[in-house]
Amino acid sequence: MKKILFVASECVPFVKTGGLADVVGSLPKNLDKAQCDTRVILPQYECMKEKYKSQLKSLCYFQMDNRIYVGINTLVLDGITYYFVDNNQYFSGPKPYFDLFSDLERFAYFAKAVLSALPLIGFRPDIIHAHDWQAALVPVYLNTIFQGDPFFRGIRTIMTIHNIRFQGCWNVGHLKWISGLPAECFQPGKLVSPYQDTSLPFDEWNATMLRGGIVYSDWVTTVSESYAKEIQTPSFSDGLDDILKWRKDRLLGIVNGLDYEIWNPKTDKAIAKNYDKRNFWSGKKENKKALQKKFGLPEDPDKFTLGLVSRLTDQKGLDLVDGIMDSLMREDVNLVVLGSGDERYENMFRYYAAKYPGKVAVLIGYDEELSHLIYAGADAFLVPSAFEPCGLTQLIALKYGTLPIVHEIGGLKDTVKPYNQYEHTGTGFSFAGYSSHELLDRINHASWLYREQKEEWKAMEKRAMAEDWSWTESSRRYMDLYNSL
Ligand code: ADP
Ligand code: GLC
Repeated sequence: MKKILFVASECVPFVKTGGLADVVGSLPKNLDKAQCDTRVILPQYECMKEKYKSQLKSLCYFQMDNRIYVGINTLVLDGITYYFVDNNQYFSGPKPYFDLFSDLERFAYFAKAVLSALPLIGFRPDIIHAHDWQAALVPVYLNTIFQGDPFFRGIRTIMTIHNIRFQGCWNVGHLKWISGLPAECFQPGKLVSPYQDTSLPFDEWNATMLRGGIVYSDWVTTVSESYAKEIQTPSFSDGLDDILKWRKDRLLGIVNGLDYEIWNPKTDKAIAKNYDKRNFWSGKKENKKALQKKFGLPEDPDKFTLGLVSRLTDQKGLDLVDGIMDSLMREDVNLVVLGSGDERYENMFRYYAAKYPGKVAVLIGYDEELSHLIYAGADAFLVPSAFEPCGLTQLIALKYGTLPIVHEIGGLKDTVKPYNQYEHTGTGFSFAGYSSHELLDRINHASWLYREQKEEWKAMEKRAMAEDWSWTESSRRYMDLYNSL
């Protein structure tokens, strides 16, 4: 029986800002319990839901390095043991993340606290599975300052990259100071890229926590096969292609799965009418009416409706949406948007909602429940991302029979099969070139098909709903990896 510890900065149902939380919340539940005992350790944020905070039991507390408080609290939910690292100074506040400068120190503390706590919690993992930059110092600490202690020897590590855009990067001097890591970690090729402005003093060179996680872990994984290839190239690696190419024999792409206990139109309590493969046509229309009502759009179950649920950042291809809005609004379509993020895109969508009332409806904010209604009520779903490591929204859309319109990149390419009108195959629409023109062309094709070729459209919705993007296959691949270590 393998003992596995997930280390991450967010996890459903405790705290979520994006897909990382969905994955950390659902993968442990879907791993074969006969083969492994998987537990999860997270920061104990003050902003975590009260319902869970009140169930926490204290396990231990101590002073790390004789000076910084670490409390470990625990709770068991749906058969999974969760540990929480408690320190008010670091994890209070209304949000899980602050500015990068403070976050670097908060998550360096978190990584070290996780390892420092292990001898006290009664669970010695065989494998530590670290997720994204916030957990990336765990393999670094483990293989340096913790190696002197026999307790830690032999623990294997996996570093999963959910998004290479975020790396936890600052200068050498600062990262050294906040992490207390030895000088060997800051040699070029380790936390420090060999390609630097050598006219600068060494302390001002860039150092990157995620690079450390990649160098010091036994295996590196990412969340789709295409993204695993893409990040070995300069265009997609954000400066880490040298190290990923070097580690390519130990780099694996495993596509994310979905938790169908949460995302299933047959049982979803947040939608207006439940449906499945048999009654989806009428079921989706009921949900579309509820969606239109909720967003103040004229109720018309036959109106072709596009949905978009997203963090509003450059990654998500919103510049392409900006480029097509005026042309798109000349067509007979509605667009419903739920998102929050960069002010630039929030204002852009506010502007279009004001310009096209009754056709464009926008809610700026984060609303889990409402997102379910959009997945169920829209006909097609936009994911035009410039890059997308995996993407979960297109997987959710497929399950709800809402056809994704995606840029052929990363996980979007691996999960959405483009419509082929001659072979009557496909589960959505995709475009290869990152351009507004191609996005508009795909949307127009989709809306034409919806209006003029109803049976084709319905057959495609049925195929989309029949796809299996649960964890079944991917959790088996993770299990194989764990067993190989
Ligand atoms: P990323 O992690 O890059 O944001 P993913 O597609 O992997 O992208 O995951 C996004 C997750 O966050 C999905 O579960 C999606 O439904 C959810 N989500 C994104 N924005 C919002 C929002 N404004 N309100 C509710 N849920 C959202
Ligand atoms: C990241 C990526 C997204 C992926 C998610 C979960 O946030 O942007 O593509 O689905 O992590 O792995």
